[in-house]
Amino acid sequence: MSYIDLNIPKHIAIIVDGNGRWGTERGLSRSAGHKEGFLNVKRLSKHIFNQGTSYISMYLFSTENFKRDKKEVNYIMNLLVDKLKDILDFAHQEKIKALFSGRLDHLSDKVIQTMNKIVEDTKNYQGKTLNFCFGYGSHAEIIDAAKKIALDYKNNKINLDNLDEDIFNSYLYQELPPVDLLIRTGGEIRLSNFMLWQISYAELYFTKIYFPDFTEKDFDEVLVEYTKRDRRFGGVNNEKESH
Ligand code: IPE
Ligand code: IPE
Ligand code: MG
Repeated sequence: MSYIDLNIPKHIAIIVDGNGRWGTERGLSRSAGHKEGFLNVKRLSKHIFNQGTSYISMYLFSTENFKRDKKEVNYIMNLLVDKLKDILDFAHQEKIKALFSGRLDHLSDKVIQTMNKIVEDTKNYQGKTLNFCFGYGSHAEIIDAAKKIALDYKNNKINLDNLDEDIFNSYLYQELPPVDLLIRTGGEIRLSNFMLWQISYAELYFTKIYFPDFTEKDFDEVLVEYTKRDRRFGGVNNEKESH
């Protein structure tokens, strides 16, 4: 067991960024970058699970990304449709439980049905959960949770005196443990509306590397950095500090 194994983040969230620039800076299209990025989602998640993490949330398309040029949005939507079968095969091969988080408004019935099938077919796998955040926005998720709570309150299904962090968490798109480590590729130092509730005490790691170039080795360097962080959660590390 390496020293890395001693401190493995249980839930890792990744903001997949820099795909478009990866393409254009190679004289290719932004779309080429999206395609390459997708390949890396599989490669990297396989490696991260092998390193002992149990939950990965990947931010692939945001509620705000719908503002982009129609052609780019359509390309990404079609890429997803094309790749859903691939995702199912990958999930079976690696025994991964797949989840999808996001608003479904802009997705076709066929995409929604296929997503549901993937979730249903992989629901019994345990130990590795891959949460694809597609059409996802954290504000939308929190508003949707608030609406569900209001509805349950109206139907006498929830007592407001009992509403605490765990119960609120159960109204989010997925009931997952908090994020321990958030990684953003592509050089921007911002959160862009990703999992704002879930990352309240996450360690943050920003890298300039574009997502399609972010390798297993780059990830291992992040893990080493993570093991050096002192996670205090508002307390004091008694082992290190004397009065
Ligand atoms: C991330 O790559 C994937 C999506 C947000 C869809 P980008 O498409 O944002 O790539 P850059 O940041 O423009 O290079
Ligand atoms: C964040 O990337 C969204 C996803 C990775 C899906 P963006 O490229 O959309 O973020 P901004 O616009 O630079 O903040
Ligand atoms: Mg971007």
